[in-house]
Amino acid sequence: MLNMGVLRYVLVACLIAISNHVNVASAGITRRYKFDIQLKNVTRLCKTRSILTVNGKFPGPRVIAREGDNLLIKVVNHVSTNISIHWHGIRQLRSGWADGPAYITQCPIRTGQSYVYNFTVTGQRGTLWWHAHITWVRATVYGPLIILPKLHDSYPFPKPYKQIPIIFGEWFNVDPQAVIQQALQTGGGPNASDAHTINGLPGPLYNCSAKDTYKLKVKPGKTYLLRLINAALNDQLFFGIANHTLTVVEADASYVKPFKTNVLVIGPGQTTNVLLKTKHVSPNATFFMLARTYFVGQGTIDNTTVAGILEYERKASNSPKTRPVLKPALPAINATGFVANFSNMFRSLASSKFPVDVPKTVDRKFFFTVGLGTNPCPKNQTCQGPNGTKFAASINNVSFVLPNTTSLLRSYFFGKSNRVFTTDFPSSPIFPFNYTGMPPNNTMVARGTKVVVLKYNTTVELVFQDTSILGAESHPLHLHGFNFYVVGQGFGNFDPTRDPKRFNLLDPVERNTALVPAGGWIAVRFRADNPGVWLMHCHIEIHLSWGLTMAWVVLDGDLPNQKLPPPPSDFPKC
Ligand code: C2O
Repeated sequence: MLNMGVLRYVLVACLIAISNHVNVASAGITRRYKFDIQLKNVTRLCKTRSILTVNGKFPGPRVIAREGDNLLIKVVNHVSTNISIHWHGIRQLRSGWADGPAYITQCPIRTGQSYVYNFTVTGQRGTLWWHAHITWVRATVYGPLIILPKLHDSYPFPKPYKQIPIIFGEWFNVDPQAVIQQALQTGGGPNASDAHTINGLPGPLYNCSAKDTYKLKVKPGKTYLLRLINAALNDQLFFGIANHTLTVVEADASYVKPFKTNVLVIGPGQTTNVLLKTKHVSPNATFFMLARTYFVGQGTIDNTTVAGILEYERKASNSPKTRPVLKPALPAINATGFVANFSNMFRSLASSKFPVDVPKTVDRKFFFTVGLGTNPCPKNQTCQGPNGTKFAASINNVSFVLPNTTSLLRSYFFGKSNRVFTTDFPSSPIFPFNYTGMPPNNTMVARGTKVVVLKYNTTVELVFQDTSILGAESHPLHLHGFNFYVVGQGFGNFDPTRDPKRFNLLDPVERNTALVPAGGWIAVRFRADNPGVWLMHCHIEIHLSWGLTMAWVVLDGDLPNQKLPPPPSDFPKC
């Protein structure tokens, strides 16, 4: 029997299809999910904590769709914490109300309330993910978001026998909300996590954890597609599998020219698809897959190693006790050169079916410094940041302050005079300095809620320049609402006359999150063809908390299909 709700959607889909003169058969379907935000007791490392989850699952449920599908995800908040969910990497074409970052596109979903995220997946396929986008709730509230190609669409790589999400995370023995509250209060660096996890499991290299080990059971002579997702709060990771070479085929849900590697680097927010070809005969060994932190800079970091096990199916006669355990070799914790080389390996597939659409001409150029800084310590308090200050982070020396009475998008859409933001975000540093040399004496940052306004369809070139203020660090920069093309990267200070001559406009990788090398820069380009308010930030959560973020306001275009529609009726109120 056909349910009336389904019928209504079928009818609406047909009407939309007819009105757009497209073939009904090629339009996607509507897929509904329900996310109940609830507490759940979870034990890791012999410590039981009540953690925030979606539907009691940790990691959270997989959302699977096909390119062209409409997703309706009803999020119901059953906990006392405010919630908001972001669909990381989804372009949200003219659906910015569903993007999710709290106080940027929407007010949080409060206790007992719900909100239906409504968006259509257009022109994208591959591995993405979803996560909470409010304070540090995403420590446990995250999961894969997998977009399959349209039915009958070809896949440009060897067809995998199986596809497996591998999602990295960080486990805290204490409430992560308390960790960030304490850090912001004292001004010092946050306490490090207690373990890294693969699909929620820390593995046998931690105390009291051997039973919580992720096992990937494989058959010999097959190709497996591993969908790697870094959902860790703060840690960029190296990853490898003993005695197995991986073939990278996709980054942030964009196909790349395949390349082989034994070790991957994956920053928070990034996703990477790799093909794993298993050996022809089951080897008599156990293979560890390991992940651990890449980090340069100051402060304490989780330097522990998560292990999962790659296990071949074998006959019962073969005793597991005598099997040697093999481990992959991973680079040193501070292997910045390795990381830069690895980032440089990525090239767009750039085929006729999946062409590169990098802007060849640029309407507006921006030069953004990204890095740490300080805020003054309030009177009558002692602070634990550098020289008794509070840690901060900024773009062009502006440390972003979130509004708390409305969202930027709502304020932009309805605002007349009393907007909660200003439009004077600097397009280059107000006081230029030697960004990667001796840091300036004054490390204080300015605070503000500033945006850049872009006309519809502006082509943008943006250089992210790391600074060495309080130590050079690598920053995974993430842009909401768009993918960008990474056209260049280098160490030291960006040279505006020499470096652009070497930009790659033929097959630059298309991503939503790219690593700015420690003590270096990257240049990206994108077309502002999506009206709305779009956050851009470092995906290292502590840097985001310290203000390493800003927002773009992209104005409506002239045509009806270039305008942002009004918010849905259940849009959360502050
Ligand atoms: Cu994956 Cu603004 O975040």
